[in-house]
Amino acid sequence: MDGQHDDRQEARIRAISAQAEEFARRLAGAEPSRLVDAARATVGGLHALVAALRPTGEEFLLAIDFLTEVGHYADSRRQEWVLLADVLGVSSLIEDQNNPRPAGCTPNTLAGPFYRADVPETALGANLSRDGEGEPLAVTGRVLGADGTAVAGAVLEVWHANAEGLYENQQPDRQPEFNLRGRFRTDAQGRFHFVSVKPKGYSLPSDGPVGRLMTALGLGLERPAHIHFRVAAEGFETLTTHVFDRADPAIGRDAIFGVKPELMAEFRALPPNGGKRKHALDLTLVLCPRGQGRPATHGRT
Ligand SMILES: [Fe+2]
Repeated sequence: MDGQHDDRQEARIRAISAQAEEFARRLAGAEPSRLVDAARATVGGLHALVAALRPTGEEFLLAIDFLTEVGHYADSRRQEWVLLADVLGVSSLIEDQNNPRPAGCTPNTLAGPFYRADVPETALGANLSRDGEGEPLAVTGRVLGADGTAVAGAVLEVWHANAEGLYENQQPDRQPEFNLRGRFRTDAQGRFHFVSVKPKGYSLPSDGPVGRLMTALGLGLERPAHIHFRVAAEGFETLTTHVFDRADPAIGRDAIFGVKPELMAEFRALPPNGGKRKHALDLTLVLCPRGQGRPATHGRT
């Protein structure tokens, strides 16, 4: 942030309220830092919000009670603060700001809470379904650079929910270890293929304060069916993304704002041939050259 920008921001904050003005005045002598920038901007934003909404004392206490309850729901197994940031679109905005991708490259998205880094590498063609539950899905694809050349030897990690919308690490006693997870390496033509089962969409936790807030607002907590990918290759920015089933009824209302047009794909139903229904998905994942997927401007560190 340059000096001129600081001055403009301070002037804006001073115009909002006498308290905001005094806060900015007290900060004016502080050693410049990201913390000071953040405090100045946060106080300015809060005062602008209060000036616009003019909450009563009771409403202010309700807001305090809500935030207190969010804190009470957050522990080592559940992070209600992250959930709140997710459903307000803040997590997705931060991801977009920190990992922008040039046009033509596959967009980056949040990894979400169910990623595991310890999945063993398997040969191309492996079946990720370790319990055989669900409708088979054949996935084929290629990893390309932005110029269309194949990326050989890329490490491709995959993880997704089962046919009931639950991840293996949500049901450690019901799903086998590493169910619906895989780690592969693309071949000399940048291709990959594996077999799995068609995932189902799922709902974010609704039993806490964030769920109650969303219900009160008439908003849903659904996530359309998707498969998560992470692709790492020498010379490229690591891609973390999801590919969504464009036919899912919730495709237009993903609770965490992860759906982008480039990430919608057709989970094609194959012609019936007796037994379970089968599906196929064909993908192209385009990596961005290292150094081109970074924010245009960095904050003060
Ligand atoms: Fe997910």
